[in-house]
Amino acid sequence: MKMVAWMNFKKELEQKTEQMEAVLKQYLPLEEGYAKKVIEAMNYSILAGGKRLRPMLMWETAALFGDAGEMIKPFMAALEMIHNYSLVHDDLPAMDNDEYRRGRKTTHVVYGEGMAVLAGDGLLNYAFETAASAFDMANAPEDYHKIGRAIQVLAGKAGIYGMIGGQCADLNAEEAEGEISEEMLLYIHEHKTAALIQAAMMIGAILTGASDEEIADVEKCAYNIGIAFQIQDDILDVTGSQEVLGKPIGSDEKNHKLTYVSMHGLKESKEQVEELSKEAVSILTSFPKRNLFLEQLVEQLIYREK
Ligand code: IPE
Ligand code: IPE
Ligand code: MG
Ligand code: MG
Ligand code: MG
Repeated sequence: MKMVAWMNFKKELEQKTEQMEAVLKQYLPLEEGYAKKVIEAMNYSILAGGKRLRPMLMWETAALFGDAGEMIKPFMAALEMIHNYSLVHDDLPAMDNDEYRRGRKTTHVVYGEGMAVLAGDGLLNYAFETAASAFDMANAPEDYHKIGRAIQVLAGKAGIYGMIGGQCADLNAEEAEGEISEEMLLYIHEHKTAALIQAAMMIGAILTGASDEEIADVEKCAYNIGIAFQIQDDILDVTGSQEVLGKPIGSDEKNHKLTYVSMHGLKESKEQVEELSKEAVSILTSFPKRNLFLEQLVEQLIYREK
């Protein structure tokens, strides 16, 4: 990207991130009643910042195909809740055992492990309550169909055949020394990370009424983005700094994780990120309409430092 284009993009990204925050805040539960503690822990984790990449990808993919209307907003919030639940649980001592996330102490460090487990469970369930509230916004009969389909994708990509499946293989691979393969590595990346990115983009497309063929192309595009995103995350775990990342570096080595970097080294990993991202952009440019911001968003993920 040229300097001026880059400056404009950065400004637009900042504004759009704020818009994502605003949508999210609209859907957060109130901290009151006997469940107050768990709701506080949920909001603590979700309000810590973060790139808000998944709701942004959902919104921008919808813009690529048309107009999804108001009903996309509960889905944007819901997906970010699911992403946050996955992080709260991922950081637990029983999983990656990390004490910092987005520059703050992780949820279990502040609220205790029991409350962090419940906050994750709470975010997951509340995500579906929130997504289902889109039915109240339906105007036309086809809206019910779109919302139903979007919920199906959300559940599938977050579940045992999606993110949870990937996290399972990620944990298994810690002990599977010698038996690890390229296939397993890709399974982990595809499921633990690409799946939620696929959900983001596919739901954006579904809610605008995109065709099955377009949705399948979006799924493929998001696969590339997701794998590249996790490889870059693994690279930053080695080359990044905690100040910029907001989370500890060296976490993967500490946990004997199977990562793209541990298997292929830094140079090849960086090449892969670039190649996959370019492929993703070329799918984006193949649709009848263009969304320049979305193309730039995907491109700059290659060079992201956090
Ligand atoms: C971190 O996701 C977990 C991965 C799937 C690599 P992000 O890098 O999107 O985290 P936040 O939301 O910006 O903190
Ligand atoms: C996380 O992968 C994927 C999730 C589903 C949370 P990592 O364990 O590498 O994510 P970070 O580095 O802790 O954010
Ligand atoms: Mg992990
Ligand atoms: Mg982790
Ligand atoms: Mg990581």
